[in-house]
Amino acid sequence: MNNEQRLEKIAQYSHAHMTQDRTGHGYDHIRRVVAMARKLSAKESADLLVTLASAYLHDVIDDKLVDDPQTALDGLKSFLIEVEVSAQQIEQILFIIQNMSFAHTLDNKPVQLPLEGQIVQDSDWLDAIGAIGVTRAVYFGGHHSEKIYDPRIKPRESMTKEEYRNLQNETIINHFYEKLLKIKDKLNTPSAKKIAENRQRFMLDFLTEFQAEWDAKK
Ligand code: ADP
Ligand code: NI
Repeated sequence: MNNEQRLEKIAQYSHAHMTQDRTGHGYDHIRRVVAMARKLSAKESADLLVTLASAYLHDVIDDKLVDDPQTALDGLKSFLIEVEVSAQQIEQILFIIQNMSFAHTLDNKPVQLPLEGQIVQDSDWLDAIGAIGVTRAVYFGGHHSEKIYDPRIKPRESMTKEEYRNLQNETIINHFYEKLLKIKDKLNTPSAKKIAENRQRFMLDFLTEFQAEWDAKK
């Protein structure tokens, strides 16, 4: 099996696991993350198999999304062995997908990701901002019965990983101030930072317009 065939199998595995998701982590999200990872890789000298495999698989063992993360992890390991990914590459892929989430960056000691992981993290984060980001935040918030907005609930200035994971009383608009607007300054690669500029402007314009309409000023 060559790497192209391996990636085809990995894409099928990811599709089978993510296609049911209705929280904004569906296969459409995966497809965009993989496409962006490919684009960002063009400017970097990363291992393309590790990068794209991690992009395809980054959400399949997420404890938010699967009932039993240990079983999901065991299943993923056996699958990667089956498609003859090398032991070293499997180790890299698993390290990346277990350490790349936004919540991890709130840790006191965030781990340093290898270049491949930095590219996938950037690709995942770019998909949380801009027009797609606005759509996903509304979709996610609706799914989790969040309020759209409540001026009495103030955005939290900073959060620990545990607080981020157990958000109470969250509103969709506050999510922009607590996470989405902060992503731009956390990105790793120069190409991702460039792409984020326009997406950041779009979100700020959206929030200005939202507030004006909320206050009946427009
Ligand atoms: P990660 O796995 O990178 O930590 P999440 O799974 O928390 O990211 O977020 C995935 C998507 O869901 C993002 O587009 C994010 O903006 C959205 N989202 C996450 N939490 C909330 C929330 N409390 N309200 C609205 N949208 C959210
Ligand atoms: Ni993702």
